[in-house]
Amino acid sequence: MEAPQALTFRFDPSATPVAASERAARLVDPGFGRVFTDHMALIRYSDDKGWHDAQITARAPLSVDPAASVLHYAQEIFEGMKAYRLADGGTALFRPEANARRFQDSARRMAMPELPEKLFLESVERLVEIERDWIPEQDGGALYLRPFMFASEVFLGVKPSAEYLYMVIASSVGAYFKGGAPAVSIWVSQGYTRAAPGGTGAAKCGGNYAASLLAQKEAIANGCDQVVFLDAVERRWVEELGGMNVFFVFDDGSLVTPPLTGTILPGITRDSILTIARAQGLTVREEPYAIDQWRADAASGRLVEAFACGTAAVVTPIGSVAEPAGRFTIGSGGPGQLTTRLREQLVAIQRGQAPDPHGWMRRLG
Ligand code: PLP
Ligand code: COI
Repeated sequence: MEAPQALTFRFDPSATPVAASERAARLVDPGFGRVFTDHMALIRYSDDKGWHDAQITARAPLSVDPAASVLHYAQEIFEGMKAYRLADGGTALFRPEANARRFQDSARRMAMPELPEKLFLESVERLVEIERDWIPEQDGGALYLRPFMFASEVFLGVKPSAEYLYMVIASSVGAYFKGGAPAVSIWVSQGYTRAAPGGTGAAKCGGNYAASLLAQKEAIANGCDQVVFLDAVERRWVEELGGMNVFFVFDDGSLVTPPLTGTILPGITRDSILTIARAQGLTVREEPYAIDQWRADAASGRLVEAFACGTAAVVTPIGSVAEPAGRFTIGSGGPGQLTTRLREQLVAIQRGQAPDPHGWMRRLG
């Protein structure tokens, strides 16, 4: 189906929005992904009609046919992005065009229709404009947007669905890690890999996360917060965490992050950190980094910091790494200097507290 006719979003306000006092109570300590707003955006797609029926409506459960193909063959993709309250009282999204493009890339990989960037942006912006009051006031608070799309055709044959539902829900969030986690501990997945060459590792599809859960469970059983995956071929190269990219900081002030070779998600936070670091003259290399090297560099002191990054987790220091053979600590085991500085610089741009030299903030009217 070709690019659509311009779509107008119909707005059906919720008849039972949460009262302001109740909303304020829910925003005191929202955590991550538990508090949802009153409305959702929705656009339907079918092979014969293209994109149609755009609406913002009261958030409500869906009625899904038991034979809807997503329930059987998992054609589903999603995005994660945040709307921020700015220092001057305005509201802005951070690099939503990058999310729109990645959503298209994910769709292509999963044989799904590509939502035009304009519709993606409009759906998110309209929802945020309506739900502005759900952005928590406190430090670190944001409105997390979750655009997603799934196969809704009622058919059990294995083929790309002929019908899809695209939706956006919004969740008021604070820190992703409980208590703001000054540094997280990481378990190196031994038996499980996340993505193989030619697979879906670079797509943001639900199946990647389903496949990561057993390894994450193993991480928790081993007393760690998160799991890190090694490459599927040599079981040697560090790839990424279940939901975050990873960076290494060396004693000469340089940074390394694994390259985008198709098996890791091209994180927008990753790209932003690369840009911020390069703009201040830091040496940043996108190159493979082996687990044996990680262990050796932590022991020798050549590696001074490591951090994970993503929309939900922002920039989170990695304090220690565990394997069956033992555990090693990185630097002091707490937040390192460069990690802290890069986090502060990124957050200052996102909150409108620093200039935005790269044009990343998209202000809402
Ligand atoms: N890697 C994975 C597997 C993720 O799920 C995410 C989160 O979206 C990231 C990396 C970081 O991506 P971004 O910075 O765009 O949120
Ligand atoms: C994000 O950071 O947006 C993610 O998608 C990570 C996780 C919540 C799935």
